[in-house]
Amino acid sequence: MTQPDTSTRAPGDTPDPRDQAPLLLYGEEFTHDPAPLYARARETAPIVRARIHEDVEVSLVVRYHTALKILQHPEFSKNSGPWFEARERQGLPMPPVLEMMRVRPNALYEDGEEHRRLSTAVRDSLGRLDPPTLRRTARETADRLIDAFAERGEADLMGEYAALLPLQMLFAMFGVPGDLGRRIHQLTATVFDGGPEAAQANVALSETWQELVALKRRRPDEDVASWLLAHPSSNDDDSEIINQLLLVMGAGMEPEQNLIASTLLQLLSDDSSYGRLRSGSQRIAEALETTLLDYAPMANYATHYPVHDLEIDGILLPAWEPVMISFGSCNQDEALRGDSATGGTGGSGYRAHLAWSAGPHECPAWSVAMMMASVAIEVLLDRLPDIELATPRPRLSWRPGPYQRGLSALPVVFPPQPVRLQDSTEDPYGSPGGRTPWQPSTTTSAPTTPQQTARPYDSTPGEATSTARPHTSGARGLRRVWNSLAGWWRGQ
Ligand code: HEM
Repeated sequence: MTQPDTSTRAPGDTPDPRDQAPLLLYGEEFTHDPAPLYARARETAPIVRARIHEDVEVSLVVRYHTALKILQHPEFSKNSGPWFEARERQGLPMPPVLEMMRVRPNALYEDGEEHRRLSTAVRDSLGRLDPPTLRRTARETADRLIDAFAERGEADLMGEYAALLPLQMLFAMFGVPGDLGRRIHQLTATVFDGGPEAAQANVALSETWQELVALKRRRPDEDVASWLLAHPSSNDDDSEIINQLLLVMGAGMEPEQNLIASTLLQLLSDDSSYGRLRSGSQRIAEALETTLLDYAPMANYATHYPVHDLEIDGILLPAWEPVMISFGSCNQDEALRGDSATGGTGGSGYRAHLAWSAGPHECPAWSVAMMMASVAIEVLLDRLPDIELATPRPRLSWRPGPYQRGLSALPVVFPPQPVRLQDSTEDPYGSPGGRTPWQPSTTTSAPTTPQQTARPYDSTPGEATSTARPHTSGARGLRRVWNSLAGWWRGQ
């Protein structure tokens, strides 16, 4: 195997993760069930050698307290530029898996003041989203997606629901008009398919984003794209705004779909868990927390680079070589599970998990993400209470790749149900109701500041998520589920 140049590493007695056989973050064993591999790694050292590809090695942080230390350490940078340059200089392979680590001009890859500037713009803009409107939009989006398969009696909840809901929500948050949304969706798919049209699609995609930014400059509205543009921390530079929007899109879609689908799997494959939810003794929030802990959607990511050789918990980390955090492993660490035992399974003791990362780059959208996932699950179980897995859990397949933990598909069956939004003429890519969704329905003239705006998830619930909606089915099961969910939403 070719390895990056490690000649700068100081010799000595310090244990080095490179002395052990590397943990492979690819291949069938890892993809099927990484938990035993993480457990073995944690027994070896807090930081181990790992390969994300046969030609790419990283140091992988597998223990909780070590991860916290690194995530908050001022002598680690998020800038992957020097490592990529070194690989290029040495003529090392650049497999596609590296694209998720390649430096881009956005908050994720910046440190210090520049990170604070970009991250403040993102955080403040997301913080202006009106929580009740966000919940209502999520409900409408969920209903519309379910309508597309409700009468069929079967669906792939990953492809037809979990993957589409965050995408359409993000378009709505950004205020993307229907035609641009449709184009962005199609072009992104073509780029990701990597076929002969990918390069051309990539050019068209970047032009489409420019079109969106030009539109928001011409006609600013109440949406995240316009707020980002107007934010005092944002530079008057289209490419910066596009990169920030792309970061929010990219960071928001994949982990969100994994959170929704893995939680649905957990509930549908465990009668007692679904039963507890139906009886009201478990809340959706707890099911989501269990998923975040056991199936961290970002499994291995948040790569940091020591700005000089550094020793952390007895392991020497060479300057500018990648140190990746295994959220999947750290969340299983005794150090955390031990703490959580005192808080009760699935209870408040789980708050310290690392699924959202920690430190300056901690996910700025965790409360939005939790709210979207809660509504997605609530609406689905409300409408399809007798839903069942179509494929037994052990036969379900997980997507390969080192970074994410997510299902490839989640096939389900259920008694066919009527369409709910029968009279809806909504464009799935447009703003619900044909208006900008983020204007609070109560007329407030002054824009809300992040400080004034309650966080959509951790605030006391405003409206119950479905009270305004008539039930289209009188089924007792449906009402039973609804009652327990509504109870949960009201905090009962
Ligand atoms: C289940 C859903 C989600 C999970 C598990 C998750 C997890 C994470 C993690 C682990 C990071 C740190 C990455 C790193 O440092 O390399 C992160 C960063 C980020 N996330 Fe999330 N995220 C989720 C949903 C979202 C959503 C819905 C959005 C947007 C609406 C979002 C926006 C961001 C942004 C902008 C960053 C970069 C923050 C920075 O570097 O300052 N995330 N997220």
